[in-house]
Amino acid sequence: MTKQFDVLVIGGGPGGYVAAIRAAQLGFNTACAESNPYADPKGEPRLGGTCLNVGCIPSKALLHTSHLFEEAGHAFEEQGISVGTPKIDVGKMIARKAKIVDQLTGGIKGLFKKNKVTFLPGHGSFVGQGGAGWQVKVGDEVVEAKQVIVATGSTARHLPGMPVDNKLICDNIGALDIDAVPKRLGLIGSGVIGLEMGSVWGRLGAQVTILEAMDSFLAAADQDLAKEAQKLFAKQGLDIKLSVKVGKVTAGKKSVTVEYEDKDGAQKAEFDRLIVSVGRIPNTAGLNAEAVGLTIDERGFVAVDGHCKTNLPGVWAVGDVVRGPMLAHKAMEEGVMVAELMAGQAGHCNFDTVPWVIYTSPEIAWVGKTEQQLKADGVAYRAGKIPFMANGRALGSGTPAGFVKMLADANTDRILGVHIIGSNASELISEAVVAMEFGGASEDLARICHAHPTLSEVVHEAALAVDKRPLHF
Ligand code: FAD
Ligand code: NAI
Repeated sequence: MTKQFDVLVIGGGPGGYVAAIRAAQLGFNTACAESNPYADPKGEPRLGGTCLNVGCIPSKALLHTSHLFEEAGHAFEEQGISVGTPKIDVGKMIARKAKIVDQLTGGIKGLFKKNKVTFLPGHGSFVGQGGAGWQVKVGDEVVEAKQVIVATGSTARHLPGMPVDNKLICDNIGALDIDAVPKRLGLIGSGVIGLEMGSVWGRLGAQVTILEAMDSFLAAADQDLAKEAQKLFAKQGLDIKLSVKVGKVTAGKKSVTVEYEDKDGAQKAEFDRLIVSVGRIPNTAGLNAEAVGLTIDERGFVAVDGHCKTNLPGVWAVGDVVRGPMLAHKAMEEGVMVAELMAGQAGHCNFDTVPWVIYTSPEIAWVGKTEQQLKADGVAYRAGKIPFMANGRALGSGTPAGFVKMLADANTDRILGVHIIGSNASELISEAVVAMEFGGASEDLARICHAHPTLSEVVHEAALAVDKRPLHF
């Protein structure tokens, strides 16, 4: 007999597995299909999608190890600690990362059991409509579900003529499994992956060159913050070349030659490894969307409204496969929203308060509007900006670089954007997100007691600075 479910989720990444768990919590008989090649010891696809397998989690594990290596090599000495010249065992670093991935991806299977979500290993594709709802082929069997959530995520975009083998020329998958520190590492694209992976291998001793097509650095970020970041990354030895037009790429046995043009004309560079990080494309190709008339937009995303509803009744889509930032927490928010909407609840996802974080050193984090956006929109605003240099905890921790900048509406004082470059920016941004989610004003944050000595005092001072009354700067 055909297996029947209330809800079938296609894809077990952060959007999909969270949607499945929330749907099951709300009483739906739920299944989740997943077909990736990252087999667990039982030979089944691992859950967790790009994020847990080849994205957020493994990259942060490598960033942490390389950060410790960098600290041991360069920051210990000035605090009177001598440990000699640190050595890196890349194999051990990669094995530690793999263990974390194992633990977390296995943990999702445990969460599925706990919440009674049926795991269906296999590729999901639409077949049509049957008596009990949508028919979807998963692996070799056809199952039926009253509602379907498409959460198939995204895959690295490759450039024409650039043979990615994930050994010499890598996308995010190979970049997280490099087995030795390359002497010369090339990256194409100075976006989030370019900066994070460039930082990992740069800290471990690679000579890093990043080739970026745009003429401005981190174009989506507040340009004040981007300029500070560019300066700090240059000091760290990342050679970021802007306005680059990449041409012919030739893979040799042990190295790759990249021909490109920049403002100084035609150039040629040889790298021991090349990482291509030029954005990601949504996974819609294998869905058989045409069979059921699911609308895919002109950029290849599943077309959805603000509530993640597609053009088909009972079919929803969340995460990287739909419009908006390709971030795990945005995918999870959408997953929860859809499950709650299906249950008749007031599902909610505030796209204006989705934070961005780049886990470089210092970290970069922001939420809301940039100063250039506010200027372009003709919004009158007040800005408060405080450097970490003015904070005792930052000095004590040896992390004085960067600043917090708060932007508030000049008339209502409502916080419109917060931009942080500095140690622990990834954690500090949460306060701004909470404030903005509740429609908070800079005065609200200015009146809140912040523990001393903490880095969060810089957020407090930035709020005070909006009203031109900082106490410690
Ligand atoms: P995915 O995680 O891509 O999951 C989709 C899943 O669906 C995949 O497992 C895929 O195998 C499966 N699938 C696809 N088609 C089918 C099908 N037809 N049938 C069955 N299964 C299918 N985001 C952050 O917020 N913070 C970070 O620090 C961060 N770091 C990142 C680092 C890297 C190197 C990369 C590449 C990405 C990073 N991201 C980060 C982005 C984050 O990984 C994605 O935004 C997130 O994984 C999207 O979740 P998703 O569920 O939409 O898709
Ligand atoms: P990205 O969109 O962040 O950056 C791509 C960069 O490549 C851009 O600067 C773009 O101008 C440049 N580029 C595009 N085509 C080019 C070309 N032909 N030559 C040279 N440069 C070119 O994409 P990236 O780094 O691949 O990451 C993909 C996505 O994964 C991110 O947008 C983000 O959503 C997610 N991610 C999130 C992380 C986080 O939250 N910390 C970490 C890593 C990835």
